[in-house]
Amino acid sequence: MIAQLDQLRQVMRRDQVFDFMIPRDEVRVDVSHGVILYLEDVSVSFDGFKAINNLNLYINAGELRCIIGPNGAGKTTMMDIITGKTRPDSGSVYFGQSMDLLRHSEPEIAQAGIGRKFQKPTVFESHTVMENLELSMAGAKTVWSTFIATIGPQEQERIDEVLETIGLVENRHQLAGSLSHGQKQWLEIGMLLMQKPKLLLVDEPVAGMTHQEMDRTAELLTSLAGQHSVVVVEHDMDFVRSIARTVTVLHQGSVLAEGTMDQVQNDPRVVEVYLGE
Ligand SMILES: Nc1ncnc2c1ncn2[C@@H]1O[C@H](COP(=O)(O)OP(=O)(O)OP(=O)(O)O)[C@@H](O)[C@H]1O
Ligand SMILES: [Mg+2]
Repeated sequence: MIAQLDQLRQVMRRDQVFDFMIPRDEVRVDVSHGVILYLEDVSVSFDGFKAINNLNLYINAGELRCIIGPNGAGKTTMMDIITGKTRPDSGSVYFGQSMDLLRHSEPEIAQAGIGRKFQKPTVFESHTVMENLELSMAGAKTVWSTFIATIGPQEQERIDEVLETIGLVENRHQLAGSLSHGQKQWLEIGMLLMQKPKLLLVDEPVAGMTHQEMDRTAELLTSLAGQHSVVVVEHDMDFVRSIARTVTVLHQGSVLAEGTMDQVQNDPRVVEVYLGE
C-alpha cells in the first residue's frame, strides 16, 4: 500500500509522465521570424455587415501593441477571432510560424498560450486573492486535486511571483469580492498569468479605474511586455499614450493607420474618424 502511494505521488509530480501535467510554459510557439501573431486578409460579416474587412495585423514577439479606433471598428471582434470565439469568413490567423488558429478550438487556443482578459472582471468573489490564483491553475490540476489538497512548492512559487507582479502581495488573504475595481482587474490579469500565456489580449483594461489605478495598470502591462506579447485595446488616450510603442488604428474592420502615438495622432485620417470626435 505504502509503495503504491509512493508510486502515485511519483506519477503526480507535475514535471513527469502525463501530458496534462506538463506546465504550460513548455508549450512552444515558433517565433523564429520574430512574429507571434499573424492576421492576413481576415474578413467576417454579421448579417451582411462587414465587421472585419481584409484585416492585416502582425504582432511581434514580446511587443506591447495598443489598438485604438472608434466604437464598432471591430476591435473586440478581432480578439474574438484570435481566440477562436468567432470564425472568420476568409483569411488566415497564425500563432507563430506554424499554428493555424482557425483549425483549433477555443480551449486549445487558450492552452497554446493565448490569454484573454474581458472588460468586466470575472474573479471568484467569495474566494481569497490567493485562492483565485490557485483556482486558475485548475486546468491541469482538477484531475488529481482530489488526491492532494495542498499545492506544491513550484506552484506556490508561481503564485508568489504573480502576486508580486500584480501588486497584491499584501492582499493575498483578502476576499476578491472586497477588492477595489482596479485590484480585481489586476487579479484577473494575474489569473491569466498563472497559465504563463505567450500572448495576452486585454480589452479596455482601465475603464472605470481611478487615475492612480490607471498608472499602476500602465506599469503592470509595460512590465509584462518582453516576457509576453501584449495587445491592449483601449479608448483612454492618456492611458494609451503612457504605454504605447506601436499603435494600430482600426476603422471599419481594417487598419487605418499604424505607427507611434505621435504619428497616428497627427494622421489626418485618424483625426477625422476618431480623435477629432
Ligand atoms: N456576434 C455578433 N453578431 C452580430 N454583430 C456583431 C457581433 N459581434 C460584433 N458585431 C458587430 O460588429 C461590429 C464591430 O463590433 P466590435 O464589438 O468588434 O467593435 P469594437 O471596436 O470592439 O467597439 P467598442 O469600442 O465599442 O468596443 C459592430 O457593429 C457590432 O455590432
Ligand atoms: Mg469592443
